[in-house]
Amino acid sequence: MRLKLIIAFLFTLFLTEISNAHNHFPITRDSEANILKGKVLYEQHCASCHMVNLTGAVDWKGVDKDGHRKAPPLNGTGHTWHHNDELLHKIIKLGFAKLMNNYEGKMVGFGDKIDDAGIDNILSYIKSYWTDDIYEYQISMSK
Ligand code: HEC
Repeated sequence: MRLKLIIAFLFTLFLTEISNAHNHFPITRDSEANILKGKVLYEQHCASCHMVNLTGAVDWKGVDKDGHRKAPPLNGTGHTWHHNDELLHKIIKLGFAKLMNNYEGKMVGFGDKIDDAGIDNILSYIKSYWTDDIYEYQISMSK
């Protein structure tokens, strides 16, 4: 009897784990703690190109000396909020190289350096910069 209970309990735990793993969208900006964790990761891995305060490179619509596109702003003034969470998560995790054929640009993936929860925290941090209307719009798109 007790063993059955334990097995049932473990199975429920397992199912919850699976659903949590696939159910992390939409990503909100409700948790101050997550936003702060995201900020630390952002400054470590992203700010060198996307700049502090997420403003993007100067003249971001132009190209670098080497002909590659520059890092766009993520603060809501660009088009980041036109993408839903699933795609944004993939862009950060896999980079454009794994999403597009023959991509030679600079947005590589960070999946080997930042885990899924960390990527979600960075997205919470990014969203903390967005105005309410684009935030609400992007959340409804990500459900
Ligand atoms: C070496 C420079 C560089 C670093 C570091 C970098 N990015 Fe990027 N990122 C780019 C460039 C360049 C693009 C535009 C891609 C293109 O058009 O080739 C981009 C695009 C993006 C986009 C798509 C934006 C949009 O508006 O469509 C997101 C989201 C993004 N980066 C997030 C991040 C995050 C989060 C990090 C840190 C974990 C990061 N990037 C680190 C250069 C960088």
